[in-house]
Amino acid sequence: MTQRTALVTGGTGGIGSAIVRYLAGQGHRVATNYRDPDKAEAWRKAMAADGIEVCMVQGDVCDPTASEAMIRAIEEKCGPIDILVNNAGITRDTTFHKMTYQQWTEVINTNLNACFNVTRPVIEGMRARKWGRIVQISSINGQKGQYGQANYAAAKAGMHGFTISLAQENAKFGITVNTVSPGYVGTDMVMAVPEEVREKIVAQIPVGRLGRPDEIAHAVAFFTGDQAAWITGANLAINGGHYMGW
Ligand code: CAA
Repeated sequence: MTQRTALVTGGTGGIGSAIVRYLAGQGHRVATNYRDPDKAEAWRKAMAADGIEVCMVQGDVCDPTASEAMIRAIEEKCGPIDILVNNAGITRDTTFHKMTYQQWTEVINTNLNACFNVTRPVIEGMRARKWGRIVQISSINGQKGQYGQANYAAAKAGMHGFTISLAQENAKFGITVNTVSPGYVGTDMVMAVPEEVREKIVAQIPVGRLGRPDEIAHAVAFFTGDQAAWITGANLAINGGHYMGW
């Protein structure tokens, strides 16, 4: 397999860490951004202990200027970015009639506007080199909606609109753009849902359990491989059968 440079935004999180591990395991140079230096250093050491050296650059994906600087720093350290995984994401769950403007904008900025901020400085290089793989990590809740997540569901549905437009614009440049929509995976984000609510959600999953981060990473690796060149504009739902759209 050709060794490439991959950027996974929010790589220090639950699903992000699994994607970093998986792509590194395939022999790619993997980079991620971070905001909190102390948390990042602890994470970097844990990855290094497993033999995974990650190129880490500080940068807030909500800020377009900081994102561009972050991309240039990664390119300087690790080479041109051929694989981009827009994974950084947060929740601010509450019913819409109680939602503040801040809860709305924080979620839209981190989950959706970040796709612009990070992809924009990367896309021209991919087009010039005539090769690229872009994957958005969306969510089951962008497909089916979720009580308490008007902000998150709007952002996650928007990510797929972004995918299918970019897929059309960049197909002839050897760039594929796809979405992975995880269901409820056993990460800190899902474990923050109150236990009694979470138990009711798990009861709705035909496979009968939460997903594992590596089960999401596996799909990202599938989309980013050379052999996936004819798959673009797709949305792969990985949710234990919780939502079966088509
Ligand atoms: N459908 C219908 N009614 C519901 C409901 C649902 N899914 N969930 C809650 N309600 C009802 C409750 O039964 C309750 O009704 P009564 O007042 O008649 O008793 C009412 O709504 C208020 O519910 P809560 O007391 O729970 O309200 P709250 O304000 O304390 O909390 C909430 C609301 C924040 C939405 C909370 O229910 C919650 O956290 N829900 C889970 C949201 C969720 O799934 N988040 C996913 C996070 S993980 C993630 O996002 C990753 C991913 O991509 C999958």
